[in-house]
Amino acid sequence: MVGTGRDMNMEEKKYSGYIGVFDSGVGGISVLRALVRELPDENFYFFGDSAHAPYGDKTVSQVQELSMAIADRMAEQGCKAIVIACNTATSAAVKLIRQKYSEGMPIIGIEPALKPAATQEHHGRILVMATPVTLKLEKYHELSGRLAGEAEFIPVSCSGLADRVEQGNLDAPDVTDMLEQMIGAYRGRVDGIVLGCTHYPFLKKQIRKVMGDVPLYDGSEGTARELHRQLVRYGILSQSDKPGKVVLDSSIHTEQEMRLYEQLFHFHA
Ligand code: DGL
Repeated sequence: MVGTGRDMNMEEKKYSGYIGVFDSGVGGISVLRALVRELPDENFYFFGDSAHAPYGDKTVSQVQELSMAIADRMAEQGCKAIVIACNTATSAAVKLIRQKYSEGMPIIGIEPALKPAATQEHHGRILVMATPVTLKLEKYHELSGRLAGEAEFIPVSCSGLADRVEQGNLDAPDVTDMLEQMIGAYRGRVDGIVLGCTHYPFLKKQIRKVMGDVPLYDGSEGTARELHRQLVRYGILSQSDKPGKVVLDSSIHTEQEMRLYEQLFHFHA
């Protein structure tokens, strides 16, 4: 059948009706897993910008530019919603992306799970592991300021840690050495730890090895519930009763890189 101009245009929209999910790299896969659990009938297109990771050590305007380029591409490809599965990109760029697109589709960001941690560990001491950009920006200061009466937050800038997750082989001893250096001094002195970067949930086992059996909090479940609410609000929830598709994509599209993406998607903690 010969396609009309409109049909051809539709063909270009490779991910029409998909939910676009992006991160600076593999970290967002920890969020994607929660999204698929919450909304198994939706189609997801995941893009990790591993060629430009880490975002957390870049300037704010660089993170904004990279994030907007991905959002633009997802919108062009027909995505019906965008989830910024990166605390750093959310802190730097969610406002700009919303200004451009939120009239037409939901734009969901992720933020460090300070609120669930403060609720559970009321008046406790909470370590917040995140990237330098996340900890420097207004979003974190606004959130920690708002909850200051509920708990004590101790921010730890974990420069280099997301980049190490990008390299895979997470059971290697250098990973625990790195964690020991970054947070070992707080062992036995905190009541909870917020994993304020989406790469860190892949290190739960290693963090527990260094810190003992302390409660860990991340924002992926909250983000999944928020996406669900927004899809209902915009009236675009999938009506299918079949399991949706999940497409994994990266700016480093080699076989080896895609194997790491697959492995982390099927990761068992
Ligand atoms: N995964 C990202 C986050 O949640 C950032 C990692 C990076 O520095 O690229 O903050």
